[in-house]
Amino acid sequence: MARIFLIGATGGVGHRLHPLLTAAGHQVTGLHREPDQADALRAAGVTPCAGDLMSLEADDFAERLVDHDLVVFSAGAAGSGLPRTSRIDGEAPLHVIEAMRKVGLARILLVSAFPEAGRAKGLGDGFEHYMKVKKEADAALTATELDWVILRPGTLKDEPGDGRVAAGWALPYGDVARDDVAAFLAALVDSSIRRAIIELTDGETPIPTAIASLH
Ligand SMILES: NC(=O)c1ccc[n+]([C@@H]2O[C@H](COP(=O)([O-])OP(=O)(O)OC[C@H]3O[C@@H](n4cnc5c(N)ncnc54)[C@H](OP(=O)(O)O)[C@@H]3O)[C@@H](O)[C@H]2O)c1
Repeated sequence: MARIFLIGATGGVGHRLHPLLTAAGHQVTGLHREPDQADALRAAGVTPCAGDLMSLEADDFAERLVDHDLVVFSAGAAGSGLPRTSRIDGEAPLHVIEAMRKVGLARILLVSAFPEAGRAKGLGDGFEHYMKVKKEADAALTATELDWVILRPGTLKDEPGDGRVAAGWALPYGDVARDDVAAFLAALVDSSIRRAIIELTDGETPIPTAIASLH
């Protein structure tokens, strides 16, 4: 059993992930920014923890991370503008890293983005900025001594997952169901994979086999 601090607990991936974690016997604390999200988290067996990534600093995270074993960062600004993207996708992971050092917490799973996302689609400056700050957060994390795993999913889809993926160090770009990203993260929590950047798309390999192949 691990005590997991889930950042992005109410999101497309996060709300699919926390039931898998609690079903596996883990204790989950879920960060949320709106007061009315607390009851739903509590009803799902998650301990709600209020906080806005636009304002939380390292000391604020440190207070919240005490008595946890692992952080999963699956928050994102979701195209809500450059300043929010800078803060939520770029700077918040750095504050979390600093907080983890303060409290002696080592393991973090960071959801990043597939480097080829949106390539040649002319998605504009906001998307380019998003990709830039995601990569900067990845680079900062890989430079630490922490026990990190960075997951780079392809374009996220809401269609039901089938528990089959392609996972590897470098893959052709593709889509991936949020269900399968959540299931893959849950499997990563229980794996000994560390200090690895993993790309993830839809595929044909059952998730446990895909995880085993990465050890
Ligand atoms: N979309 C894609 O195709 C794609 C592809 C690759 C990687 N990713 C990455 O995958 C991850 C998960 O994506 P997703 O689809 O689950 O994203 P999502 O549905 O937009 O969820 C984002 C989460 O971040 C939280 N959040 C946003 N701003 C916040 C703030 N100021 N304070 C606290 N929490 C805040 C949201 O809370 P609320 O519920 O309150 O909004 C939500 O829980 C993200 O890191 C994203 O960048 C996305």
